[in-house]
Amino acid sequence: MLMKEKNSSSIMSPDIGKLATEKPFAIGVPWLQTGWIDQHYIPKQTIQTKINCPKSRTTCVPLNLKIMENPSKIIEDDIEYSLGDFDGNRVLYDFDKISIYLNAKGKLLFGDQFRIYDEDKDIIHKLCYYFIKDQKNCQKYDIDPRKGILLSGPVGCGKTTLMTLLRHIIPTNRPYDIIPCRNVIFSFNHLGFKTVEDYGNTKSFCFDDLGIEPMGRFYGKDLNVMGEVLLSRYELFIQSKQRIKTHATTNLDADELEEHYGHRVRSRMRKLFNIIDFDESAGDKRK
Ligand SMILES: Nc1ncnc2c1ncn2[C@@H]1O[C@H](COP(=O)(O)OP(=O)(O)O)[C@@H](O)[C@H]1O
Ligand SMILES: [Mg+2]
Repeated sequence: MLMKEKNSSSIMSPDIGKLATEKPFAIGVPWLQTGWIDQHYIPKQTIQTKINCPKSRTTCVPLNLKIMENPSKIIEDDIEYSLGDFDGNRVLYDFDKISIYLNAKGKLLFGDQFRIYDEDKDIIHKLCYYFIKDQKNCQKYDIDPRKGILLSGPVGCGKTTLMTLLRHIIPTNRPYDIIPCRNVIFSFNHLGFKTVEDYGNTKSFCFDDLGIEPMGRFYGKDLNVMGEVLLSRYELFIQSKQRIKTHATTNLDADELEEHYGHRVRSRMRKLFNIIDFDESAGDKRK
């Protein structure tokens, strides 16, 4: 949900569709009004603050919340990064600055060999448009911010890496966990249908390597577990009024996914996902 802007034309430049070096672009989101909580610092167990922490409690989780007054700034390893300019209401994102942050965060997460490849910039920009909900560019690239992302591309081109990295640019209260589909199957083989509920009916997830997981088997019965999970995810998506999203990565194309999951699941997938494709020739970054 975007905040209505009083005079968006004064900030939204006509060059809004241009990338990185050209012009910053503007976007408003409601949580910007009061600042935001860096998800990195949110203790999972509680939402207590100094003010509402009950006096009777003796075992409080340490208050390591870091309230950021300016959501265009992110602190990593005591270094402050800026993603753009904050005018008190909205962030004017700047791709040069986002790239600097992604480079630094990528090195922190994946090691010093991490870098932003020139050939990936288009994909990264699209993902940024999606995550910061830049309506104009989302429209331009046919991205629906209400849906999730299905990032597809050849093995090793960096899909998992990008889905892990990009969630850090936006301080959201609904981050997604990245779950390898194989793990969902292993869990099903142990626990049965509880697994379909666990992954189908709860929070936002990014299912990694969709379509190449084996069939699940529980008490001698085979099940296309991820197919069932995706059907449940669609119901959840509708029930949650499109708030609980499903993301995925895959190295299969649409036809192969349909072959794997069948027409019914495929048609739900169209409603669940925006497809963002790496070029077929994208190289394997493991090499
Ligand atoms: N931008 C990058 N810079 C350096 N190494 C990368 C980059 N993206 C991915 N890699 C490396 O390439 C390998 C494959 O990346 P991964 O994200 O797992 O690919 P995919 O999910 O598309 O199969 C990993 O070892 C990862 O660390
Ligand atoms: Mg992967």
